[in-house]
Amino acid sequence: MQKYNIAVIAGDGIGIEVTASALEVLRAVQQKVGGFELIYDELDYGSARYKAQGSYAPKGWLDHLRSSDAIYFGAVGDPDVPDHISLWELILPMRQVFQQYVNVRPSSILPGIPSRVAGSAPGDLDWVIIRENTEGEYAGQGGRTHVGTEHEVATELAVFTRKGVERVMRYAFETAQKRPKKFLTVVSKSNAQRYGLLLWDEVAGLVSKDYPDVEWDKMLVDAMTVRMVSKPKSLDTIVTTNLHGDILSDLAAALSGSIGIAHSSSLDPSRKSPSLFEPVHGAAFDIMGKDLANPIAAIMSAAEMIRFLGEEKAAAVIESACRESIAEGQTTGDLGGKLKTTEVTKVVCDIISRS
Ligand code: IPM
Ligand code: MN
Repeated sequence: MQKYNIAVIAGDGIGIEVTASALEVLRAVQQKVGGFELIYDELDYGSARYKAQGSYAPKGWLDHLRSSDAIYFGAVGDPDVPDHISLWELILPMRQVFQQYVNVRPSSILPGIPSRVAGSAPGDLDWVIIRENTEGEYAGQGGRTHVGTEHEVATELAVFTRKGVERVMRYAFETAQKRPKKFLTVVSKSNAQRYGLLLWDEVAGLVSKDYPDVEWDKMLVDAMTVRMVSKPKSLDTIVTTNLHGDILSDLAAALSGSIGIAHSSSLDPSRKSPSLFEPVHGAAFDIMGKDLANPIAAIMSAAEMIRFLGEEKAAAVIESACRESIAEGQTTGDLGGKLKTTEVTKVVCDIISRS
């Protein structure tokens, strides 16, 4: 029996609710498919811990996590804690320290979901966004001088390294190569950002030579938003910088129906460090504790996690159960349904059990 050690950080807000759903679905699929066991290390890292004890996680937490096979993450954020603190205490250090340099964010219009793009049907929007996940505009470098005075200067440095750009670009070309359309769009803003993003475009050109069967084009990020809305069919795999990917993936989620179904994987493809799997949405305090959150993004993230670990069959069973529940209209309010978080979870588990 294959065993995997999973660090579970449910975190804050609805992260806690949807993580419970994902674990329930994983239990159902383990029973159904068999052959593997997930051993959980459930950790209390998050804003409640910060408010009670002064830190999001205990000393040495990153070393502790390093020994796990994967990290499953819910969400972080708390109305009592400024976001720039909570994010830099928990999620952003993991992406950087574990060199999870690829963030994979797929989006598609699934049968059963009313499309937000005029005239589009299921199949017309089927994208994979590859977001650079460790550098760029999230490098965390910069500073403030003369704080509070009229002479105050704040800098926010975007850092692009040739190595960092090349590795994510290769991953993107490889992703595109495996998909039927073999088509990649490289997004940047190299007209205005003439250093880092010119490097980005240049590296794309160099890397493309190693993937002659992949057709590719370049887009400026502003024009890209228009193309995503007006010609979704013209896109397939997309590679973008950290901040642009953050923004475009929310747009992609909204266009494909709801942020409640958008899942993501932060990968270290070298597998030297654990990769992390999480829904794209945040802690959503407005709906917390009401059993209203859509658990599908969290459940699909769990499916991606076990796929990355090698349990393809179980991952596919979860995905098809999610699709079936959506196609049947057994959804939460964000997708037009009437079900609660726990009810959708039960529907997915039941589909798995009788599959
Ligand atoms: C996301 C989130 C994060 C990001 C936040 C929570 C740091 O918005 O995963 O998209 O900006 O990357
Ligand atoms: Mn985001």
